[in-house]
Amino acid sequence: MMMNLIIIWILLLSGLSSCSGTASDVLCLQTLKQSLFDSNGALSSWEFNSSGTVGYICQFNGVECWHPSESRVLFLNLGNMGLEGSFPQGVQNCSSMTLLDLSNNSLSGPLPGDIARQLPFITSLNLSHNSFSGGEIPSGVGNLSYLVQLSLEHNRFTGRLPETMGDRLARLTLLNVADNSLSGPIPGSLQKFSPENFAGNDGLCGAPLGKCKRRFHVRIHLRLRRVNDASSVGGAVGFVVGFVVAFYFPQWFLFCGSLRRYIFPVCA
Ligand SMILES: *[C@@H]1O[C@H](CO)[C@@H](O)[C@H](O)[C@H]1NC(C)=O
Ligand SMILES: *[C@@H]1O[C@H](CO)[C@@H](O)[C@H](O)[C@H]1NC(C)=O
Ligand SMILES: *[C@@H]1O[C@H](CO)[C@@H](O)[C@H](O)[C@H]1NC(C)=O
Ligand SMILES: *[C@@H]1O[C@H](CO)[C@@H](O)[C@H](O)[C@H]1NC(C)=O
Ligand SMILES: *[C@@H]1O[C@H](CO)[C@@H](O)[C@H](O)[C@H]1NC(C)=O
Repeated sequence: MMMNLIIIWILLLSGLSSCSGTASDVLCLQTLKQSLFDSNGALSSWEFNSSGTVGYICQFNGVECWHPSESRVLFLNLGNMGLEGSFPQGVQNCSSMTLLDLSNNSLSGPLPGDIARQLPFITSLNLSHNSFSGGEIPSGVGNLSYLVQLSLEHNRFTGRLPETMGDRLARLTLLNVADNSLSGPIPGSLQKFSPENFAGNDGLCGAPLGKCKRRFHVRIHLRLRRVNDASSVGGAVGFVVGFVVAFYFPQWFLFCGSLRRYIFPVCA
């Protein structure tokens, strides 16, 4: 954790010297506000005007900056605000943000496939208690290489957990995907997390949950079907052969003399 912070600091300080952060972070919050429905007015303190003093965006509800006198967003805490819409736009311009909390709102639709390009330094991402869906969790989540905490619980994700999440999120110490509609086996390196973090997904299986029974059933079922196919082909061949033989050589089958007169010669 300490090492991560030091690395991020070095990366950010090297970026700071160019001092293009302010305009970029203001644009980030402006774009983000425009892209969401804010029926509770939770973002009404977000007033953008040129007369604002340096670092004025750092006073905004939910915004925490690296330093109060410089408009560089560090954390964006937008949980429990009644926000509606899809995953917000503009976040890539908050280019030194390390925490994004959008939890417990009414956000829906898919996560962007290039989420790692949009949130390159994110260490904590909380999207829980929304209605995010759009099928699977995008494999690009696996490219969020500084991620330490990932909360996706209580959404509508379906399909499998991407293998990239298991392979590449080496720093992850908290993962919660409970209460979605996920299925399939849990990738190996995510199996260290406790079962309640995967609960409420009917189709998820493998450690730390129960064995992957369904897949096993499917395999047995397929094998049986193959056996059935083979035996029905065998049956059909046997039937045709039997029929032909019986047709040409009926005497082999009819031993009862009284029936012989009903046999007529085919090839006289
Ligand atoms: C905002 O981000 C986009 C995409 O990364 C970039 O092209 C643009 O220059 C940024 N705007 C500012 C003001 O930095
Ligand atoms: C500019 O922002 C300040 C502080 O948020 C606000 O009091 C003022 O009304 C704004 N001015 C305009 C023209 O929007
Ligand atoms: C979500 O927010 C509502 C109020 O907006 C609150 O009552 C509820 O406890 C919150 N749920 C979680 C899981 O934080
Ligand atoms: C994510 O947000 C939910 C709801 O607001 C909260 O209960 C949970 O503790 C948060 N998770 C993390 C890791 O902060
Ligand atoms: C993830 O990063 C790798 C290497 O940087 C890149 O090739 C790949 O396209 C990225 N995947 C996604 C889904 O962004």
